[in-house]
Amino acid sequence: MVQIITSEVANSYAEAHSSPENTVLKELNIFTQENIRGAHMISGHLQGNFLSMISQMCQPKFVLELGTYTGYATIALASGMQDDGKIITIDTDASIQNVRDTFWEKASLKDKIEQHIGKALDVLNDISNYKFDLIFIDADKSNYIYYLDKSLELLAPNGTILVDNTLFHGEVFEETNRSKAANHIHNFNTYITNKVDIFHVLLPIRDGITLIRKKTK
Ligand SMILES: C[S@@+](CC[C@H](N)C(=O)[O-])C[C@H]1O[C@@H](n2cnc3c(N)ncnc32)[C@H](O)[C@@H]1O
Repeated sequence: MVQIITSEVANSYAEAHSSPENTVLKELNIFTQENIRGAHMISGHLQGNFLSMISQMCQPKFVLELGTYTGYATIALASGMQDDGKIITIDTDASIQNVRDTFWEKASLKDKIEQHIGKALDVLNDISNYKFDLIFIDADKSNYIYYLDKSLELLAPNGTILVDNTLFHGEVFEETNRSKAANHIHNFNTYITNKVDIFHVLLPIRDGITLIRKKTK
């Protein structure tokens, strides 16, 4: 399980006092927990509601997600998308495409989602003609700095970037004995903190989620 930064009790209370998990998302969450390896990676109820809320506030036309997994966050991120909008989502793993397709169909989103299979590093170069209003970075941690720089290039004016796992199970708090992945995240957090052209906030929701916008003045 991903270690939740807030206490279990706070997390359960927050879930109980947030809108209920959307029916299709709930079914996908249960299916993933019971059948798919690495289920700790799924965004889940509270973070899913948060992603939906951001999407509904931004009302994006084009959304980009790095790291699809079973497509849970894809559905949440699409919830506020404009009627003629599209979400592009990238993952290296094609083996669970049937799961994604089944649940995207149930959510009536199949025509609005474009799945790219491949390394995000490569795919990002193929989609450079887009400007995205909302970007969710949730793939391999070693490339987070590159993903951010590329995302800033692909971001529409007034766009928002969300970055997952920025507290990395609390390992980032440690000065020594961090795992390799936690070190990547700590380096990323340091990198953005020193970046003067963005405004950002790290929220201790689930495993830590950072919101980033380009500074306008
Ligand atoms: C944390 S999961 C994504 C969870 C999903 N966004 C959600 O909230 O439900 C990370 C995903 O990134 C994918 N991934 C790992 N390395 C990748 C890479 N280099 N390029 C694209 N996807 C990658 C993994 O296969 C995995 O499905």
